[in-house]
Amino acid sequence: MNYKIAVIAGDGIGPEVVEETVNILNCVGDKFNHKFEYEYLLAGGCAIDEKGIPLPEETLEACKKADAVLLGAVGGPKWDNPDAKIRPEQALLGLRGGLGLFCNLRPALLYAPLKEASPLKDSIIGDGIDICVVRELTGGIYFGERGREEINGVKGAYDTERYNENEVRRIGKIAFETAMKRNKKLTSIDKANILESSRLWRKVIDELAKEYPEVEVNHMYVDNAAMQLVRNPKQFDVIVTSNMFGDILSDEASMITGSIGMLPSASLGEGKKGMYEPIHGSAPDIAGQGIANPLATILSAAMMLRYSFDLEEEAKAIEKAVVSVLEEGYRTADIMSEGNKLVGTKEIGKLVLEKILS
Ligand code: IPM
Ligand code: MG
Repeated sequence: MNYKIAVIAGDGIGPEVVEETVNILNCVGDKFNHKFEYEYLLAGGCAIDEKGIPLPEETLEACKKADAVLLGAVGGPKWDNPDAKIRPEQALLGLRGGLGLFCNLRPALLYAPLKEASPLKDSIIGDGIDICVVRELTGGIYFGERGREEINGVKGAYDTERYNENEVRRIGKIAFETAMKRNKKLTSIDKANILESSRLWRKVIDELAKEYPEVEVNHMYVDNAAMQLVRNPKQFDVIVTSNMFGDILSDEASMITGSIGMLPSASLGEGKKGMYEPIHGSAPDIAGQGIANPLATILSAAMMLRYSFDLEEEAKAIEKAVVSVLEEGYRTADIMSEGNKLVGTKEIGKLVLEKILS
């Protein structure tokens, strides 16, 4: 089969990690007889530099036509003026909104060979951590009305958290379905002791729970969840939460698994099209040095094969190869620990590639 992939390498380490990932996809294509076609597109800071806007129309249009989107990272200090009207991050929100990708799956998996990279004690980690964060991605405060105001001569600013029942139901449904495929345990995280939108969220999740009687559901306030994630992460299996809470908690969940450099993500909508990106950012401090960890992007490509192309065997081949390389002790700087072998972006990419071929 032929698959059309829109590739947005982006800024900072984006192009480096994407290059390794495309090599891996080509190798999977050769081995399993698929043809992946790539269209390289501009978005983020580099698009601001070349086109004056973070998400050029032709980029969004090409992504709409593609079967899936692979994204590296966007942003960097060059465009980081908080007062700027044009910012690289707008490209991400524009892509998510423009492609209708309301569901963000962020699996936080602690790979056994990386146990020593986790900042948590062995007694807390036990035999491993495997959490799937299901984050709502096109609603809530990141998409709500915002603005500046002046009341009685005092300047202010506001953002709005707003959800309707349909938005909660569609993300809730995916979370329940995900829970059914895993351990039938779902934690819905909100701030229903304060926020009206959270009370609506809770009500819809409770209604959905009746359709999934096998799933054990519990509700947790976000502040407590932030604490529980480091106190006892093993109590979590599938987490479902709003856009902002999911943004914050998924970074926390990623760190307990050792490194943000390891975690992939899939952004999905109604159809098969998805956008796949590492959850880390553009890491401008290490860009261009050949030391970035490409594994999160490589694992994102595995999610692409699984969710957009239904190529489960191929997805597993990538994931298995990554685990083997880690088991053999190869590490990029972000996950390095004593006794292991330090390698750069290209070397670890090549090692994964060789494993897939072997
Ligand atoms: C993420 C990022 C983005 C987000 C930023 C860069 C807009 O932090 O994907 O988690 O907040 O969604
Ligand atoms: Mg984030």
